[in-house]
Amino acid sequence: NLLVHIFKPLSFLSVIQHCSPAWCLCSSWWGGVQMGPPDPILGVTEAFKRDTNPKKMNLGVGAYRDDQGKPYVLNCVRKAEAVIAEKKLDKEYLPIGGLGEFAKACAQLALGADNEVLKSGRNITVQTISGTGSLRIGANFLSRFHGGPRDVYLPKPSWGNHTPIFRDAGMQLKAYRYYDPSTCGFDFKGALEDISKIPEQSVIVLHACAHNPTGVDPRPEQWKEISDLVKKRNLLVFFDMAYQGFASGDIDRDAWAVRHFIEQGHNIVLSQSFAKNMGLYGERVGGFTVVCKDAEEAKRVESQLKILIRPIYSNPPMNGARIATTILNTPELRAMWLEEVHGMANRIIKMREQLVAGLKKEGSSHNWQHVIDQIGMFCFTGLKPEQVERLTKEFSVYMTKDGRISMAGVSSGNVGYLAHGIHAVTK
Ligand code: LMR
Repeated sequence: NLLVHIFKPLSFLSVIQHCSPAWCLCSSWWGGVQMGPPDPILGVTEAFKRDTNPKKMNLGVGAYRDDQGKPYVLNCVRKAEAVIAEKKLDKEYLPIGGLGEFAKACAQLALGADNEVLKSGRNITVQTISGTGSLRIGANFLSRFHGGPRDVYLPKPSWGNHTPIFRDAGMQLKAYRYYDPSTCGFDFKGALEDISKIPEQSVIVLHACAHNPTGVDPRPEQWKEISDLVKKRNLLVFFDMAYQGFASGDIDRDAWAVRHFIEQGHNIVLSQSFAKNMGLYGERVGGFTVVCKDAEEAKRVESQLKILIRPIYSNPPMNGARIATTILNTPELRAMWLEEVHGMANRIIKMREQLVAGLKKEGSSHNWQHVIDQIGMFCFTGLKPEQVERLTKEFSVYMTKDGRISMAGVSSGNVGYLAHGIHAVTK
């Protein structure tokens, strides 16, 4: 009898555990949630962390490492942090659009301090949660206010996160040809052909420099033709500039396309990130700019950006913005920063050369010139998915399935091992 008393309530419990959600309060709320796939880029880091091979390499995410393979905090950042700590500043909320001084310095960095747009006050720049947050605020703004078609044209291929960012904001994704697998270079002809057919007033996304994932950028003469064509098609240009300084080591040279388009009369929108060029990855600091017709239009756009941002995250975090502003606005820290950006870009260029030399030494007969020619953090190797899989399984070299490697994760110590692995799976 005692057993009946004990087990009766338990068997009742087991019934309610298995009952249908429609009528039972105690059942799981999330029974219908399917297991999702890992993120194509950040998921690679998760797999890398589980690997116990001491020779393992994480070439998935684009995050700079020094030549010892260690995450690198820039000296100018350490110095700026000390300056800020010394000031014992408060931790009040920032305004919805972020730190005003930061937004100003951020726009100046992209457009050039003497740009007519800044002088006439016809831009609005808000501080954002790094590049992703900037793109998402931009995508939401387009979704709410852009009067043209809801189509956003991305280069093929583009950064993996572009698609979900624009899609989740309610835009529709389309593509234009960009990369030519037969040359591992820019498909200029294909791009022009496709852009000439984009319906008027659609949105076109352009990577300002150091195209992610291909490392292939148009040359200045090609940018000029793209600008003319985009103007003829009357397209709204969305520049994504996540790597200013990382392509050439020179922040002005890397901003050339953005400045050229503005000079040619395009009222662009622009996303910026300080994750890579200041190494402020986890600080999440970036900017979103809308270039408007005049200062009055900029004021109206600003009011709506604030209305858009407030219910998402209220206002952005201050620490990264303070660091970036201190660096940009203190001449000696700025000079130090420019040197360090240059140093990072150069180390990557050196690794490209050493990788190709290593492949030759291994006896590879393929033409690897594109590894040297491509610029920025990434190299689009041309490896097929099966080869990528072998490289990961047999050599513990982690990279995205599309064959992209982050050159920033290669060092003097492991470049030989990488060359050996790539040769083994491509011979
Ligand atoms: C990358 O492409 O690896 C970087 O932009 C990091 C990221 O967030 O995907």
